[in-house]
Amino acid sequence: MSGSPVRFRDVTKTFGSTVALKAFNLDIAAGEFVMLLGASGSGKSTALSILAGFSDATFGDVYIDGKLMHGVPSEMRNVGVVFQSFALFPHMTVAETVACPLRMRRRPADEISRKVGGIGTGAPGLAGETQA
Ligand SMILES: Nc1ncnc2c1ncn2[C@@H]1O[C@H](COP(=O)(O)OP(=O)(O)O)[C@@H](O)[C@H]1O
Ligand SMILES: [Mg+2]
Repeated sequence: MSGSPVRFRDVTKTFGSTVALKAFNLDIAAGEFVMLLGASGSGKSTALSILAGFSDATFGDVYIDGKLMHGVPSEMRNVGVVFQSFALFPHMTVAETVACPLRMRRRPADEISRKVGGIGTGAPGLAGETQA
C-alpha cells in the first residue's frame, strides 16, 4: 500500500465554507526531516492535526507505515506532537512533562530516566527545571 512511513493522499479538510486543506499529498520517507512552511492559515496545523488523529479529514486518506488511519485513535498512532504554546502541564516540571507519556506507556523507570536525561544533553540540566 505504501512505501512511506507517512503518506497523505488527496487530503482535504473543510470547516463549513472554509477549505483549510485542499487535496494535500505528501510522502515522508523513513528518517526524512520535513518542515511545512507556509503563510498563516495555509493549513499546516490542520495537516498535522489530521496526521495525529486529533481531527478527521473531510476527504482523502492518511497512512502511517502503510496502514490506513481511518478510525485509528490518536493514542494508537505513535505520533508525538509538541504544540506551539501551552506545551507543559502546569503542575509538572519540564522533566516530568517529557516523562509523562513514557510513564503512561508503563516504560521501565531506567528507560524513562535515560530518555529524559538524554534530552538535556548539552543544555542546562533538564531534571528539576520548571517552566518559565
Ligand atoms: N477548528 C477550526 N474551525 C474553523 N476553521 C478552522 C479551524 N482550524 C483551522 N481553521 C481554518 O483553516 C485554515 C487553515 O488553518 P491552519 O491549519 O491553522 O493554518 P496554519 O497552521 O498553516 O496557520 C484557516 O483558514 C483557519 O482559519
Ligand atoms: Mg498553525
